Amino acid sequence: MKIKNIEINGFAALAPMAGVADRAMREICVKYGAGFTVGELTSSKGVSLGDKKSFGLLACSDNERPTASQLFGCEPETMADAAQKALAFKPDFIDINMGCPAPKVAGNGGGSALMRDPVLAEKIVKAVVNAVDIPVTVKMRTGWDSDNLTAVELAKRCENAGASMLTVHGRTRVQMYAPGIDFSTIKAVKNAVKIPVVANGDITDGKSAENMLKITGCDYLMVGRAAQGNPFVFSEINAFLNGEGYTPPTLEKRFNVLLEQVNLMLKYKDPHNAILESRKHTAWYMTGLKGAANLRRMCGEISSVSDIEKIIDLALEQNRDL
Ligand SMILES: Cc1cc2nc3c(=O)[nH]c(=O)nc-3n(C[C@H](O)[C@H](O)[C@H](O)COP(=O)(O)O)c2cc1C
Repeated sequence: MKIKNIEINGFAALAPMAGVADRAMREICVKYGAGFTVGELTSSKGVSLGDKKSFGLLACSDNERPTASQLFGCEPETMADAAQKALAFKPDFIDINMGCPAPKVAGNGGGSALMRDPVLAEKIVKAVVNAVDIPVTVKMRTGWDSDNLTAVELAKRCENAGASMLTVHGRTRVQMYAPGIDFSTIKAVKNAVKIPVVANGDITDGKSAENMLKITGCDYLMVGRAAQGNPFVFSEINAFLNGEGYTPPTLEKRFNVLLEQVNLMLKYKDPHNAILESRKHTAWYMTGLKGAANLRRMCGEISSVSDIEKIIDLALEQNRDL
């Protein structure tokens, strides 16, 4: 797939996940086969006003390219200004969030609220496209609720405004993250536009990736939660869709990658925050193991890298046969 002039390899990208898919996770996922990454959603107002925390979210590394800065907001001029300021961090493209259901985003007219106002959404895309000389993409849901599946209209307007790619998470705003993906609306979006369409929602392995591609006819895939504690999901999907064999990593390898990810978090973040955030990532890496409940409880008390190493030792000890 190509996002305008940017060549994208493989079959699946890492989804943006605020508070989860940080620089460390994004680098690790690219290392294991993610084709592109998208930064955590960032307030256009914050960036426009020069807020330090917002700038912190825009930082990205060469090891996670191609990568996008993702902005949210509902004012075309502010979005355009923020997109220009984001260029200082050298993203490969700018992604506009039209899917976030959180009240502090949608309640202020941004994120998924734009699914209810396709005219304003089009103005925003136009303003951002005119403001920057890199591709502009949009991530949306299927609509606000099942009576208002606006994704097709929104997609056409985004394309008309100059967007270079669309990602559709196959749920409405009201559905939040509940089970059940609306494949047919994703397919309808794919059929309505000429620009590439990326399908997202509940892809967890090679089979579900293949299923999504077959049903929707989309150009590419995006994986979020299944990559938590499992960056190898991208290698698995790539191998499956290339018709190649896939050997899951050994437990030792899995834990080495966990430590690599935590070390990157320590490199990029305030050490206190890095250790606090390592608790949930370490717990995710324990998924499916014998003694996982106890291991996860221990993860909640991590206060140093050596605590993580102790948990790893115990996990290896209890899971020798895996
Ligand atoms: C913790 C969390 C944070 C998220 N943050 C963002 C975000 O910042 N921007 C965005 O567009 N989507 C965000 N999403 C939505 C995901 O990108 C994705 O669309 C959704 O999780 C469905 O994909 P999945 O089933 O593969 O997880 C977030 C999802 C989760 C679970």
